[in-house]
Amino acid sequence: SDAELDARIIAAKETLGDKAVILGHFYQRDEVVKYADFVGDSFQLANAALTRDKAEAIVFCGVHFMAETADILSREDQAVILPNLAAGCSMADMADGPSVQQCWEELTALYADEADDGRMPVIPVTYMNCSAELKAFVGRNGGLVCTSSNAATVLEWAFERGRRVLFFPDQHLGRNTAKAMGIPLEQMPMWTPRKELGGNEAATLLDAKVILWHGFCSVHKRFNPAQIAKARQDFPGVRVIVHPECPMEVVDAADEAGSTDYIQKAIAAATEPTDFAIGTEINMVNRLAAQYPQHNIFCLDPVICPCSTMYRIHPGYLAWVLEELVAGRVVNQISVPKEQQADAKIALERMLAAKP
Ligand code: 13P
Ligand code: SF4
Repeated sequence: SDAELDARIIAAKETLGDKAVILGHFYQRDEVVKYADFVGDSFQLANAALTRDKAEAIVFCGVHFMAETADILSREDQAVILPNLAAGCSMADMADGPSVQQCWEELTALYADEADDGRMPVIPVTYMNCSAELKAFVGRNGGLVCTSSNAATVLEWAFERGRRVLFFPDQHLGRNTAKAMGIPLEQMPMWTPRKELGGNEAATLLDAKVILWHGFCSVHKRFNPAQIAKARQDFPGVRVIVHPECPMEVVDAADEAGSTDYIQKAIAAATEPTDFAIGTEINMVNRLAAQYPQHNIFCLDPVICPCSTMYRIHPGYLAWVLEELVAGRVVNQISVPKEQQADAKIALERMLAAKP
């Protein structure tokens, strides 16, 4: 029962004390969030993994790529545990090492004859939502990682050093960020492998500023401008805030776009009772609605839009991994291969320097 699970988690946490720290993403369900020692967005969680140096184990309540990041940034002797190994991210799975490598080779060959202006022809930038293998790839090739909270700062970093950016896996974050920086849509082609559909025109790629990968988030893809129009009709004066993983038409129709931390800070800072229509994951929206009853906070998607993989961290798994730790056993450990660690760390350290 829920009460039994609560008692087991509380007892295990008490026994472990400082030996284990629980980190939780904003999208985690309430039954898990209530046990987190720190809750944050991807950027804050990466920083948290770097600074929790007393703990012998970091229990990461989030998805696989976040736990990998924690493993890369934490001390070598700290174990990072993902309570359910099936908690992945469908967007992260949309970019794999060999496909990105092939794209990179084709692009670098195409740009090889360009006049040297002291900058690299193309800088690879990956959204945090990707495998450690791809973080290592960008680190090795002069690029870096970004999150939804520092994507603009990261693109500025990249344009100081390169003429173009290859941005993966999330086309929407890439497009929304580049558009806000004034880059025209014609200069943001989507990468098409040569073998499929005849590939991109070389001229388009030569003129490109940001080459986008085809990835997307299945949760944020559900939002559309009609939902925003309806919210404005139902609640005149409503403040519409969406996550930048939403499609461009949704971000354009919204009042503001920002990371999960941006969204929660915007609501926390509102002094007058306000209608808030939010375009992001439902567990987070419902929690904010309960936390700030003075406001009318609702999700733009009238059906429901949970992140099904975040939801796989059930309190039962949390109880199990904590009790195993009490018994001196580490289960569900996330260990990034040694050969990826150093390069991925370079890419993440460049990202951490690019403040939101
Ligand atoms: P944040 O960096 O805003 O927490 O986003 C992470 C994520 O996966 C959103 O879908
Ligand atoms: Fe991945 Fe989307 Fe879930 Fe974020 S909300 S973890 S991008 S599937």
